[in-house]
Amino acid sequence: MNMTSEGLASEGLDGVVAAVTNLSQVDGQAGRLIVRGRDIEELAGTFDFADMAALLWAGLAPPFADAAAIRRDLGSARLRAAGMLPQLLPAARGLSPIEGLRAGLSLFSDRNGDHVLLCAAVPVFTAALWRQGQGKPPIAPNADNGQGEDFLAMLTEDPVDEGAARALETYLVTVADHGLNASTFTARVVASTQAGMVSAVVAALCALKGPLHGGAPGPVLDMLDEIGDLDGVRPWLDRQFAAGERLMGFGHRVYRTRDPRADVLKGVVEGLRGGGNRIALAEAVEAAILAELAERYPDRRLDTNVEFYTALALEAVGLPRELFTLAFAMGRVLGWTAHIFEQEQSGRLIRPASRYTGPLPEGRILATVAG
Ligand code: ACO
Repeated sequence: MNMTSEGLASEGLDGVVAAVTNLSQVDGQAGRLIVRGRDIEELAGTFDFADMAALLWAGLAPPFADAAAIRRDLGSARLRAAGMLPQLLPAARGLSPIEGLRAGLSLFSDRNGDHVLLCAAVPVFTAALWRQGQGKPPIAPNADNGQGEDFLAMLTEDPVDEGAARALETYLVTVADHGLNASTFTARVVASTQAGMVSAVVAALCALKGPLHGGAPGPVLDMLDEIGDLDGVRPWLDRQFAAGERLMGFGHRVYRTRDPRADVLKGVVEGLRGGGNRIALAEAVEAAILAELAERYPDRRLDTNVEFYTALALEAVGLPRELFTLAFAMGRVLGWTAHIFEQEQSGRLIRPASRYTGPLPEGRILATVAG
């Protein structure tokens, strides 16, 4: 664990173990992600969203349900979530899609908003919010569809491309859980106060929104647009470093090597090669950025993280970049809900300490160090 000279955990809590979990393990040295005993590469190739829900919720979410039952429950929960749209859409006018989703999830009550409804609501609300921004009415969910397919079907009137739906399911599985990342930690902190499932998920979504966590993939595409072509890479990089900007899609708190999810998603992009696919430019940009980061930070390995190829995968699936963070939430909500169950079962309030460095009332001696 990194400690400051005063014996404190570092401000970013690097290396601090703040939860015990049997959900997922991130091995930052080996570049390996294990979810409930299975490597992410295996899960991404074979599981869909409902399979992943069954894996993550097993033994935590009462009553036990297998993937087929969860698939059915998610379908009917999407219909229930769509019933909230008349309340949500007028209230969300003028908000960005992620702010609209935050407002939407807040409409549920902690008393009866359960994990299945929350997972179902994310695609329903996202699609309807996006369409409202385009001046279009919502498209009703189809309870018989899989989660990813139904999201694409609710987004546009165009027939859903099977390959794109499969690719989206792979993406949702790939990002479903990832140790104690910032949003999952947030969810566990809120759950530890016994605030309830809905409150904990809303809080997690707020943490996901930031560009240092789930807000990076949209800006990755902005970066590729700005660079334009292979000749544009060098001058763009020089400008970014001169301005002290971080490069979106690179670096990670835990990985000291390549994020394994980057390669899973690169495979998704390659499988979807088509009109919007700019993998050649992306590979050249990636190579140039990695070389530059290695030179600038010889003692701190900074590599490609999940968000770089997320951007390309979601673009190839046909999603607008404004919805990338919401697509991340669509997958990660599974991990949040599983961690919330786990935290609620452990029953221990998460309440670390801080060290006061401000002034003292005159003449008084500080009696305690931490509070
Ligand atoms: N571009 C340029 N410099 C970087 C980058 C980057 N992407 N990442 C880290 N650095 C620099 C830091 O500024 C720091 O420099 P300094 O010592 O001169 O201050 C040095 O490398 C070490 O930084 P770390 O300790 O490795 O960074 P930290 O663990 O605090 O942050 C983070 C991790 C937030 C992911 C960071 O790498 C970053 O900002 N990346 C870009 C945003 C991004 O891709 N976010 C998505 C992350 S994946 C996810 O959450 C799903």
